[in-house]
Amino acid sequence: MTDILDIRGLTISLPSEKGEVRPVESLSLAVRDGEAVALVGESGCGKSLTALAALRLLPPPLKMSGGSVWFEGRDMGKLGEKELCGIRGARMAMVFQEPVAALNPVMTVGFQIAEALRAHKQLSWREARARSMELLAEVRLPDPSRIMDSYPHQLSGGMCQRALLAMALSCRPSLLIADEPTTALDVTVQAQLLDLLDHLREAFGLAVLLITHDLSVVARFAQRAYVMYSGRIVEEAPVRELFKRPLHPYTRGLMQSVPRRGAKGRLKAIPGAVPPPGMRPPGCAFGPRCALFRAECQASVPDLLAVEPLHLVRCPFSMAAPIP
Ligand SMILES: Nc1ncnc2c1ncn2[C@@H]1O[C@H](COP(=O)(O)OP(=O)(O)OP(=O)(O)O)[C@@H](O)[C@H]1O
Ligand SMILES: [Mg+2]
Repeated sequence: MTDILDIRGLTISLPSEKGEVRPVESLSLAVRDGEAVALVGESGCGKSLTALAALRLLPPPLKMSGGSVWFEGRDMGKLGEKELCGIRGARMAMVFQEPVAALNPVMTVGFQIAEALRAHKQLSWREARARSMELLAEVRLPDPSRIMDSYPHQLSGGMCQRALLAMALSCRPSLLIADEPTTALDVTVQAQLLDLLDHLREAFGLAVLLITHDLSVVARFAQRAYVMYSGRIVEEAPVRELFKRPLHPYTRGLMQSVPRRGAKGRLKAIPGAVPPPGMRPPGCAFGPRCALFRAECQASVPDLLAVEPLHLVRCPFSMAAPIP
């Protein structure tokens, strides 16, 4: 398998009164052809900004101040706006965090999908409409012709999310970045959407980068996962390995805060909160919340080290600590 998306050493900067702050620092992440990868972490750790940087859509004054993004073997930083437009939506598609807000409230769903199609393909309105109906059926929306003529407020959150997915898939992208696609949905609808993503991956060889704060979604969907904390990757591993042997204290904290089948004891939330980019403590940003904290943790940011070829962790003390 080759890497379809390869983010290398991504740093995102933002000017502030106290000087430049970095919401994302030296982040590397790869998605292979047809692979399902998750990027997981609490609110504010930089997941959405990472996705926007991958599409080169960071809103100013945020900027990519370091690293590179390679997509299908091309350096996105070297492409002009015209070439980027040919990639965005067509080869690399994204569904954003807020399904209802992402649709235009004054246009029918059908019009919006047909318009997305016509932005990249030379189709008549009639052809675009017919293709839009097929796409709505592909994302398993019942009664596509009724949905075509509906306005977003006439649909449920789950239906809007599917319509957005139909729009994202309209040009048969090779990579879909799905930012928290299930957060606003109830558990059943959430499970159906993940099933659908699985099906689309198999049917079309689609690679998916799923962004979530929910480890149960990671377990259900992804083959490999990156755990992110305050702008950096703190652990990455194949999902099975991650659940069998979570090493970083942050990953372990996240695991203890989600219900797991067969797990005993009470669920525990990690005390404290993710520091904003300008307020990170020195050294390991997780230090103040960490059960393994010691003075050395403040000296410098630990390296991301391999404990197995595919399992990397950014904490030199976690290997020796007992796994709960
Ligand atoms: N446009 C912006 N201007 C300034 N700061 C921003 C901007 N967008 C995001 N940030 C800051 O960057 C950090 C990372 O934000 P990001 O939206 O990537 O987090 P996230 O991991 O996606 O969180 P969530 O799970 O809540 O969606 C946060 O501290 C946020 O406040
Ligand atoms: Mg986000």
